[in-house]
Amino acid sequence: MSIDLTKYIATVPDYPEPGVMFRDISPLMADGDAYRYATDQLVDYARSKNVEMIVGPEARGFIVGCPVAYELGVGFAPARKEGKLPRETVKATYDLEYGKSALYLHKDAIKPGQRVLVTDDLLATGGTISATIQLVEELGGIVVGTAFIIELKDLHGRDKIKDYDLFSLMEF
Ligand code: PRP
Ligand code: ADE
Repeated sequence: MSIDLTKYIATVPDYPEPGVMFRDISPLMADGDAYRYATDQLVDYARSKNVEMIVGPEARGFIVGCPVAYELGVGFAPARKEGKLPRETVKATYDLEYGKSALYLHKDAIKPGQRVLVTDDLLATGGTISATIQLVEELGGIVVGTAFIIELKDLHGRDKIKDYDLFSLMEF
């Protein structure tokens, strides 16, 4: 069974600020068949890359990455925002489509040489995923792929991660 996942994305103009077309994945997650169908495709991609560990940035990267990790039987490490991780961390700062932020990973989140998939709901400017990649590589992980539900073509995030394989389920 094939599902047109674009039907499950809600588009909200001028959120969270004027000029931004917000692409909301929550209708997709709210539908069990659509969520499973999206997850299954990400699982197939991760399998094709022999992924050993998954890293996703807070917060929507958790929603996407955790079910993939569960299905593959591999671990998941959360890349979190300021002040959320209790033990020693590495840090990467980045610019967003609407603001600036920093992400952190626990220093023992990745084993050197581990094959890592970094995944998130959406690729916009590429700042978030680049910061996540930077954290993984600082810990000695090998980023074997990047995977998203949505790629926003106009923001050219792809150019920021052109050295990495990229998989997305849809483009706007
Ligand atoms: C959103 C989205 C991605 C990021 C994409 O997260 O979930 O992580 O922006 O934008 P970029 O490619 O320009 O970096 P946001 O920072 O809004 O946080 P949230 O997941 O906690 O809502
Ligand atoms: N994160 C960054 N840009 C976004 C957008 N346009 N829609 C949803 N999430 C985003």
